[in-house]
Amino acid sequence: MTLLDGKKVSNDIKDEITEQVRKMKAKGEKVPHLAAVIVGNDGASLTYVGSKVRACERVGFESTMVRMSNTTSEIELLDQIEELNQNDDIDGFIIQLPLPPQINTQKVLMAVDPSKDVDGFHPENFGKMALDMSTFIPATPFGILELLDRYGVETNGKHTVVIGRSHIVGRPMSILMGRKGFPGNSTVTLTHSHTKNITQITSQADIIISALGVPNFLKAEMVKDDVVIIDVGITRVPDESSPKGYRITGDVDFENVSKKASFITPVPGGVGPMTIAMLLKNTLLAREQRM
Ligand code: GUN
Repeated sequence: MTLLDGKKVSNDIKDEITEQVRKMKAKGEKVPHLAAVIVGNDGASLTYVGSKVRACERVGFESTMVRMSNTTSEIELLDQIEELNQNDDIDGFIIQLPLPPQINTQKVLMAVDPSKDVDGFHPENFGKMALDMSTFIPATPFGILELLDRYGVETNGKHTVVIGRSHIVGRPMSILMGRKGFPGNSTVTLTHSHTKNITQITSQADIIISALGVPNFLKAEMVKDDVVIIDVGITRVPDESSPKGYRITGDVDFENVSKKASFITPVPGGVGPMTIAMLLKNTLLAREQRM
């Protein structure tokens, strides 16, 4: 069994980006500038955005965090987005999800200038992705592709089963794994809450990408020998023995599934750090496209 070490690979990617930023600076060019908008006080979202800002510092990007209150109206958020769209100093920005219930997420994501949409959530960018056109690929799916690529995991002709059809992970992942090329050329099954007899499907999978958010959902009995496991789950489970009062748990029963797997991502330290590295990569791309 080989551990797909997202922490290590993401550090390699950050080193590569740091070097590119160093060259940009040496040529007197403007360095990439990422902004992150966070609405409300959700603990997990604040943690993620904090990590994104710290990652910018680590590679030499400029970053701006825009914090808005939980009672922000849709109009106020749309005004903030317009300001970021118009601000020439900002190369890319993200709106951290989820948003409070008074705000229509779709409307908000459609207001982001596609050329600054480093999350790849705007329908124009999502459509381009589905049509094999060059665009921003959402950071988590992009990170998974990069992990598979850097470990040389064979995807050609394999049966990939994606669990969960979220707009951020499952849906784009199902499209990307079936695209022509590497990583891709998989035969893809997208499973979700209405899927009948999921074990029958997962037990035929060569690659399983689980983005469900149900701790320890995927058990050893549900997979075949030598399966490749990508665990996107990051659920906070109460844990009094931890100083934070919780621990992060994936969708996969790691202890038992890892005994059958050929490759597997740990949680934490697998997909999570890759997401941040690829957001940086998209921001660098956004800067390059604006030159
Ligand atoms: N919420 C959970 N994952 C993400 C992400 O990748 N981007 C944004 N903006 N919000 C998220």
